[in-house]
Amino acid sequence: MTERIPERAAPMTTVLILNGPNLGRLGSREPEIYGSATLADIDAACAALGARLGLQVELRQTDDEAELIGWIHEAADQRLPVILNPAAFTHYSYALRDALAMRTAPLVEVHLSNPAAREVFRHTSVVAGVADGTIAGFGPRSYELALRAVAHLLGRPGGS
Ligand code: DQA
Repeated sequence: MTERIPERAAPMTTVLILNGPNLGRLGSREPEIYGSATLADIDAACAALGARLGLQVELRQTDDEAELIGWIHEAADQRLPVILNPAAFTHYSYALRDALAMRTAPLVEVHLSNPAAREVFRHTSVVAGVADGTIAGFGPRSYELALRAVAHLLGRPGGS
């Protein structure tokens, strides 16, 4: 009789959803621009979608550039895909861009609003050039679309 080798579930890929300054204030921050959903709401929606896509999501937020860069280094070292809303850092942080250039896995830039339709200083993203792509303007749904984009880049079913 041949010995049965128990089937093991494939390990879940973790996707980091990283958020920059002031995004911890979603829900009360300029709701006419950013809507009423909180980051916790976005976390829950992404966790539910991630479960369907076979992706485990871990959402973090910081107002601190150094902390955010530390998380980007961690993602590079562990080959973790990243969905990043760099918030205002989008428009001027070359340090963040340089960290992201070291990435070893998919990177999708995300924005709730459409920066291209807002003030001129928001029209520049120093991050876009090192990302696989950018999703902007769909409110909290931008994050879910970004998660589908990561699934697509990883060749997962449901990603395209
Ligand atoms: C934002 C757009 C940025 O211009 C702004 O500084 C933010 C939020 C967005 O998600 O729409 O903080 O990244």
